[in-house]
Amino acid sequence: MSAREVPLVYSPPARPLEVPADAVPPAGLIADTLGRPLRDLRISVTDRCNFRCGYCMPKQVFDKHHAFLPHAELLSFEEITRLARVFVGLGVEKLRITGGEPTLRRGLEALIAMLAELRTPDGRELDLTLTTNGSTLVKKAAELRAAGLKRLTVSLDGLDDAVFQRMNDVGFPVADVLDGIAAAQVAGLGPIKVNMVVQRGVNDDQILPMARHFRHSGVVLRFIEYMDVGATNGWRMDQVLPSRDVLDRIAAVFPLVPLSHSAPGETAERWAYADGAGEVGFISSVTQAFCGDCNRARLSTEGRLYTCLFATRGHDLRGLLRGPEAVSDDQLAAAVAQVWGVRTDRYSQLRGSGQAPQGERRVEMHYIGG
Ligand code: GTP
Ligand code: 5AD
Ligand code: SF4
Ligand code: SF4
Repeated sequence: MSAREVPLVYSPPARPLEVPADAVPPAGLIADTLGRPLRDLRISVTDRCNFRCGYCMPKQVFDKHHAFLPHAELLSFEEITRLARVFVGLGVEKLRITGGEPTLRRGLEALIAMLAELRTPDGRELDLTLTTNGSTLVKKAAELRAAGLKRLTVSLDGLDDAVFQRMNDVGFPVADVLDGIAAAQVAGLGPIKVNMVVQRGVNDDQILPMARHFRHSGVVLRFIEYMDVGATNGWRMDQVLPSRDVLDRIAAVFPLVPLSHSAPGETAERWAYADGAGEVGFISSVTQAFCGDCNRARLSTEGRLYTCLFATRGHDLRGLLRGPEAVSDDQLAAAVAQVWGVRTDRYSQLRGSGQAPQGERRVEMHYIGG
């Protein structure tokens, strides 16, 4: 799709959701058609970002042909918390706040404080985390921690300033992100993970410098294969550097040993430095799809429920929260269970075997969250 064809406000038509007045929530955990439980909810709190990473929000599209969601469209913190509580009742144990750049949402600490109060049905705390580009952490890390955030993940695609500034495409200096990571460590946020999207020929020369930098730091560096998410980044397979190659490059200098198999639904394959300098992860959704135990749901900024990162349409939950169609918590739970119960998504697996669904345009990652 050319930049000119991108509609001004990109928000795909939602699927309607109808719930009977006497709907009852399921008694126990829910599973989709492939037996996958719902464990992880990613909540996008803004579709805006102060970076323009070419693989996510290319400037030629997002600075010229795009308008972001108006404020009235966004879910309020109360609406987000109500929905999160319903999801937790259905088995969700991990909440990830994402965006766009979530720390640009005004008053985010108040939302974190509200979400930090939630407990699983048997009284346990949730795994509450956030994905950020790190640009605001120097200012915000301490207040995020004070509000109840436990840990966070920072996206960082290189250590060389010229490479990093080319990647973020707004001239943001790498030193400020590194200072932000240090501020998060001082604030007691941990473990901190750093996600690096690797694009062959663009930033693959940063693999070793990044590995070297984060050894012995306590930060877990994870390499992400460049994905064909959305419809604006012009993804090509020849720009993907398979995780196996990334691993080989690192292991040639710093020997690695595999760590025990990841928890169900985990995105990353974990390896440790043989000399005890810490661990690294590889997220290989292109060469080794991990749809088999995918337990992630995504809530967009304006309240649509997506059951896959590569979805084309979401279900409108906001319509069930507001106005004359507003429903009870039990009805909400029944509606979510109904959507999850018929879920068949396994896009990355299908693309890997040449069967990726074609047709409708896929949602953008800045809109749906990482
Ligand atoms: P931890 O709980 O900290 O291990 O986080 P996570 O790996 O669940 O989440 P994170 O948001 O850090 O995910 C890392 C990256 O993996 C994302 O930025 C995406 O690039 C990719 N990713 C996450 N979830 C999915 C998914 O469901 N499908 C695909 N294809 N990629 C995903
Ligand atoms: N491929 C892989 N990862 C991506 N991200 C955004 N777009 C892509 C893509 N096309 C990652 C970012 C960040 C998270 C929010 O999603 O690097 O870590
Ligand atoms: Fe912003 Fe993250 Fe997308 Fe980069 S990858 S443009 S930092 S939302
Ligand atoms: Fe889950 Fe869809 Fe990603 Fe597969 S492609 S792991 S089903 S979000």
